[in-house]
Amino acid sequence: MPRDLSYWNRYSGLPMTVAEKVLVRQDFRDLILTSLAPRPGDRVLDLGCGTGPHLPVLRGAVGADGHVLAVDYSPKMVAKAALRARAWDNVEVRQADATAVELEPDSYDAVLASFSISATQDVPAVVDTVHRALRPGGRLFAPDVRLPSRGVGRVLGLVYRGVARWTGVDVLDTVRARFGSADVVTGKGVPIVDLPAFAPVVMITAVKDPAT
Ligand SMILES: C[S@@+](CC[C@H](N)C(=O)[O-])C[C@H]1O[C@@H](n2cnc3c(N)ncnc32)[C@H](O)[C@@H]1O
Repeated sequence: MPRDLSYWNRYSGLPMTVAEKVLVRQDFRDLILTSLAPRPGDRVLDLGCGTGPHLPVLRGAVGADGHVLAVDYSPKMVAKAALRARAWDNVEVRQADATAVELEPDSYDAVLASFSISATQDVPAVVDTVHRALRPGGRLFAPDVRLPSRGVGRVLGLVYRGVARWTGVDVLDTVRARFGSADVVTGKGVPIVDLPAFAPVVMITAVKDPAT
């Protein structure tokens, strides 16, 4: 069964609030700032923004001269994100499908896709959307799930496919294929990063080839 709007609408409530508690921690905010490196005046895309937990840090970093476009296809997620952003001039929240949304090509300095690329039903199409939207030299930061096909990862993957209807398409491999290369952020002192070897998450960074 495809993971449809009703799925994410349902998860716009309590489960997202719990997930946000992890993601709005200061260490995760710091990780966004160092890995995405949004600068004053930048145009930033928050793809699959959910209820918008990362909008405060993004809008703060780009400042009054910058702009943040937050996109999600779930009306309930979008409603919550729009409520959060209602008083902010430098944030626009838009309901759209990341697999098909038409964004101005080569126009974003940075894209944050926080646990959203694997949440879609067409990972390559979303990575294409990101790549097209970024300007040459533009940056992607995509924390996401990564479940190896062996051992504990395989078991977790089967559960995740059943419960969350994950497609099983690997985000890191897909980003590497589209961008030509990608890095994985590691480090001590950032709990969500400092995980055991079978960690089911990966913090992906990639840069669109400046010569594109
Ligand atoms: C796990 S949530 C992450 C939300 C947010 N980025 C965060 O870090 O809390 C995944 C989000 O992806 C959105 N999503 C799933 N498929 C999508 C699609 N095709 N286009 C746009 N958003 C999508 C869901 O509605 C949901 O809000």
